[in-house]
Amino acid sequence: MKSRKLMSTVLAVVLVTALAVAAIASPAAFDQKIVSQISVPRMMEDVRYLSEDIGVRIASSPEEEMASDYIADVFQKYGYDVEIQEFPYANRIAYVTMLEPEMKKIDVRIGGSRTNAPLTGPEGITGKVVDCGFGGPEEFPAEVEGNIALIRRGQQTFVNMYNNARAAGAVAVLIQNYSWTAFSANVGTATIPYATLNDEAGELLRGGNVVINYKSIQADTSRNVIATRKPDNKNKDTGYVVVLSAHYDSVPTAPGANDNGSGTAALLELARILKSQPIDMEIRFLACGAEEVGLVGSRYYVSQLSAQERERIIANYNMDMVATAGEAQSLLYVNTLDGDNLVARTARAAAERLGYSDYLLAPYHRGSSDHQAFYEGGIEGGNFIWREPGTAALEPWYHQPHDTMEHISQERFKIAADIVGAACYSVIRPDTPSLIHSRTGYGETIELIEFVPEGVEEVPEI
Ligand code: BES
Ligand code: ZN
Repeated sequence: MKSRKLMSTVLAVVLVTALAVAAIASPAAFDQKIVSQISVPRMMEDVRYLSEDIGVRIASSPEEEMASDYIADVFQKYGYDVEIQEFPYANRIAYVTMLEPEMKKIDVRIGGSRTNAPLTGPEGITGKVVDCGFGGPEEFPAEVEGNIALIRRGQQTFVNMYNNARAAGAVAVLIQNYSWTAFSANVGTATIPYATLNDEAGELLRGGNVVINYKSIQADTSRNVIATRKPDNKNKDTGYVVVLSAHYDSVPTAPGANDNGSGTAALLELARILKSQPIDMEIRFLACGAEEVGLVGSRYYVSQLSAQERERIIANYNMDMVATAGEAQSLLYVNTLDGDNLVARTARAAAERLGYSDYLLAPYHRGSSDHQAFYEGGIEGGNFIWREPGTAALEPWYHQPHDTMEHISQERFKIAADIVGAACYSVIRPDTPSLIHSRTGYGETIELIEFVPEGVEEVPEI
């Protein structure tokens, strides 16, 4: 009898010790459950698909819609509840397709910042490209009549080159920049379609034997894609929500490999992994449309939340430009607008556990991505983005045609996805030691207690 009692006491002690050890070992072990599964090749393939197969994804464009369909399909395949949330956004989009001497897509930017260029409609205008020099009054050959004028920027004002082309009988005008940057041009009152293009594209069209189709269309709708997962066990549901986000649109002429194919791909990869992990709060994956035109998608998403919903959402982890290969962009910033918030603190703690502290700067005061929409709605948000230490500069091909796969760093991609995945999972996993879950009601401050230092025993109550 006595030995039986001793035996059960020993067993109890062993059990308690095991529990205590599990409690101590947990943070780093839980990180490994996430980071060991992150597949860089899978993320690279998604960036390739978005930036090369689809290409430029301007807000409201058919290409942006193609990307939203792809994202929704992937979420669905992983088993999430998926909603495509449409919202109105009026935009104009221009396309140039070279027909002769070969078929080729040429990226152009429609009109200026106050775009007033008339639209061609879905058929577009087909014509010969006629080199009209710098667009001075004497520089227009007779054959420009009924054709498309190509004018180099540099000597005339935009208004003059445009008006001269129209006077010479051109049916559309293309203005070539003197560098590879995208730009806007305001030509005054516009009565024929016009667009701008970079130097590389302009040179492709020059030469006298080029026929193109120029098309400009009006689009009206953009969309967010939202994948949701609630805790499997209702009794374990704390009632809170964490939102991971990334925008998937891009600016005109930029294929948006890093901005923001990278964040979109990381969002999809974390969705794949987090689908099968135990959680004690709801997780939402939000792929935002129309970010580049003023955070339109994320602001719409936040505007559709009830007051109670806003209070339930305790954090927004936003990934925007998470894989640049730019040499100077060696530090992963966590941009916040409310200082050292939950996102910044959990990111710092995760980076420390993963041995990535030297790569991370959190927090840094900056908006300009979708986390700002959450901040405006009273929700703690942070944007993960590689920038230059000290200057916070972005890579030189930011918003340019060179934002392509060749400038993606697989190593930085992995570091960023690891930190975001581990930080986010430290919040949503059941009984996390990093959070004191308030069960007394929503809207209470979530207190983050610092992580249990190595070697300090935390004996669970029996
Ligand atoms: N990914 C960019 C750049 C960015 C992200 C800048 C986070 C700063 C912080 C983002 O998509 C972007 O270009 N944002 C716009 C502002 C937006 C409100 C239109 C920008 O910074 O010009
Ligand atoms: Zn961006």
